[in-house]
Amino acid sequence: MNENLEVIILAAGLGTRMKSATIKILHHAAGRPIIDYVLDLAAEVSGRNPIVVVGHQREAVQQAIGDRARFAVQEQQLGTGHAVMQAAQLLESEHTPGGTVLILSGDVPLTRRETLQSLVEQHRREANALTLLSMKLDQPAMYGRIVRDADGTVMRIVEAKDASDAEKAIQEVNAGIYVFDSADLLANLRQLSTDNTQGEYYLTDLIGMIRNAGKRVGAVVAADPVEALGVNSRGELAIVEAEIQKRVVQKLMTEGVTFRNPTTVVVDSTVSIGADSVVYPFVTIEGTTRIGERCVIEPGAHLINVTIGNDVHVKTGTVAEESTIADSSVVGPYAHLRPGTKLGEHVKVGNFVETKKAVFGAGAKASHLSYIGDAEIGADVNIGAGTITCNYDGVNKHKTVLEDGVFIGSDTQLVAPVRIGRGAYVGAGSTITMDVPADALALSRVPQKIVEGWATRRREKLKKPK
Ligand code: UD1
Ligand code: MG
Repeated sequence: MNENLEVIILAAGLGTRMKSATIKILHHAAGRPIIDYVLDLAAEVSGRNPIVVVGHQREAVQQAIGDRARFAVQEQQLGTGHAVMQAAQLLESEHTPGGTVLILSGDVPLTRRETLQSLVEQHRREANALTLLSMKLDQPAMYGRIVRDADGTVMRIVEAKDASDAEKAIQEVNAGIYVFDSADLLANLRQLSTDNTQGEYYLTDLIGMIRNAGKRVGAVVAADPVEALGVNSRGELAIVEAEIQKRVVQKLMTEGVTFRNPTTVVVDSTVSIGADSVVYPFVTIEGTTRIGERCVIEPGAHLINVTIGNDVHVKTGTVAEESTIADSSVVGPYAHLRPGTKLGEHVKVGNFVETKKAVFGAGAKASHLSYIGDAEIGADVNIGAGTITCNYDGVNKHKTVLEDGVFIGSDTQLVAPVRIGRGAYVGAGSTITMDVPADALALSRVPQKIVEGWATRRREKLKKPK
């Protein structure tokens, strides 16, 4: 952490190769916008709020970033050099002379803190005017090529579009991450021109200018080229997301979580999971989901913004959203917890049960084939198979209350609003339209009738005449 390091993040470009109505830095990877990872990095290496250069969709970008940065506006996107010029005013007015400036790209989210720290350290150790991050690629594609002279000194960067065939063959490329001495940056920025194939102000032209002024330019080669990978297309977004996923799962494993097949799960970087929990293959865990210790999350579970206590078992195919599940509960297989579901401790919500805005007291059970919506379920209530809360009259939603210890027989309809008193029983197959007092039995079925010998007589009647 460095109090005197200014960080500039370039984020004004739309990212046309994404083919999207949304600016690329607001595309999500592992549950967060790309720019968030860059802001995290900035906060890890500098004590100062970074300057973000915004342009395209700047209201949306500023809103997403909030007070985590100061903003410089680039009305027209005339190149990376032009973008930094817009930040220069903030640097000149606020920055102490003789400082250091780190420039990051808003679309390069995988750089590690250690790499940036060594870039800054090397910059200071070698007393460079500029130190940049490079990487070696087998296929250097559209990246700017690093041109070094015979003794290895960095001479200039040539953009792929401006490069000769010989230069295109260079495999060391520019990662777009730079540490500048702020005086050298500010002095040379003013001299940039648009004399190149793209007619843009290239930030990379500063290298040649600084060299010509007799100052030192250094480069650190990133050990892992993934650290410099930019998001310019959906393909690159997928690669970046896969890398973030890998890091998220690795971190959770170091914290004591078992993944039976880590490459098949999708876990947002915002998720937490406690020690000794086990996550099976093909599980998706998103948003603010928090899972406690010793939980089991079986295949195909999809959890979105769910809070789960300890020792909870989420079985195969369960979908849960905006819900809470307290300690030692069992959910699924194939349960659907919709928003507003709150399960107390030792609750069981089983096969093909759907819940919505339903609060279950400790020990309550709905084990099979039910819909429980807009309901308050007391402790130790047992809801039989096929029970339905009829909560909707076509216009309004109504509430069902089952007090503690209630027993609901199978295939019951509870027509809300309705309240079943403490300890009462409802017989199987009932349609309950009125409140039931505590400890009573409610039944609404048609009494059973027996007609002796009926089946024999019918078979006789149906026999074909000979
Ligand atoms: C740039 C570098 C290239 C390097 C590559 C690494 C230049 C001239 N080229 O190319 O050497 O290999 O990054 O990823 O710098 N931006 C603005 N305003 C602008 C233009 C760009 O804010 O007017 C922002 C973009 O939003 C993006 C970043 O700067 O976050 C990089 O711009 P991009 O267009 O992606 O540059 P590259 O062509 O990738
Ligand atoms: Mg780019």
